[in-house]
Amino acid sequence: MTFTPDFERRNRIEQVRLAAFTTMRIGGPATLVTLESRADLAELLGQPHRWLGRGANLLIGDDGVPEPVVRLGESFATLELGEVSGGRARVRVGAAVDLAELIAACVKAGFAGPEGLAGVPATVGGALRMNAGTNTCWMLDWVSRVEVVLPGETEPRWLERAALPAAYRSCGLPHGTLFLGCELELATADPALLKATGTRLKQAKAATQPLALASAGCVFKNPAPTMPAGKLIDDLGLKGEHIGAAEISTVHANFIVNRTRAATCADVVALIRRIRERAWRERGVLLTMEVETWNCPVELHIHPRELAGVGV
Ligand code: EPU
Repeated sequence: MTFTPDFERRNRIEQVRLAAFTTMRIGGPATLVTLESRADLAELLGQPHRWLGRGANLLIGDDGVPEPVVRLGESFATLELGEVSGGRARVRVGAAVDLAELIAACVKAGFAGPEGLAGVPATVGGALRMNAGTNTCWMLDWVSRVEVVLPGETEPRWLERAALPAAYRSCGLPHGTLFLGCELELATADPALLKATGTRLKQAKAATQPLALASAGCVFKNPAPTMPAGKLIDDLGLKGEHIGAAEISTVHANFIVNRTRAATCADVVALIRRIRERAWRERGVLLTMEVETWNCPVELHIHPRELAGVGV
């Protein structure tokens, strides 16, 4: 990868271990670019790259990744709260804003909706990309338009929410789409009520999820709303199983925690393989990854019945 001197002057480029940029605290070396200038988007998009948000839903291989890893800098962290008109307001937010900051600003202004995402760790861009959410609401529920650069293009464009075939944990746009920001259309409500809802949701998470330990959140998608992956793994008796420092959480079985922060990606992959094989063999259920994976063994995505020939 090579960048022009102008690019290097305007944007920060450093060699890092990606573990420090993920909540799972796993991931090998890479070149990290912090993009500050929109003018440099085209140069970046012309070569292989990967987009990083808060790294909260990401498992990265122990060898890192060869492509530059790019995160959006401060100039993409804009937040504009619009005037209220007819009980509604428009909010425009850049992808680099922390989701918690967006939620806090909306709660304070009395704009309803985003408080339902309280406690979801993400940047706005990451939350849009994953259609991050809870078991009752998703990021794209309140979004009216998104600003994106689609794969193969270099110019940003705005897309109406209605044009996005979004679904559970999916924004519906192709892999590699860059989210630059979005607009939300929100109804007004009593800030005290919104705050109370956010607090209640965060408390519920803290009571049922291992938030004090390094993890990437829920590992698998729920196979169906009536079949939470956590309950399935729990019923299989797998809570507390570990490989190295990677452990199936004793609090919530759909979390793998990096207990001492010494776990490797290989440890986590071996544990995931064990879970997927048991779920398939004993319950006939195919568990698919909710967590994004970069440069991890393909077996994470292979059907368990094909796994016999795949070495770890
Ligand atoms: N359960 C167990 N054992 C466990 C874990 C859960 O029996 O070890 C049971 C619970 O008692 C409950 C059911 O399974 O009856 C569902 O559990 P929970 O309420 O924790 O919800 P979930 O479906 O496991 C989903 C999202 C979470 C989100 C929570 C709360 C997915 C894969 N997970 O979890 O999202 O925080 O709802 O809204 O959709 C994430 O995306 O990373 C994530 C953590």
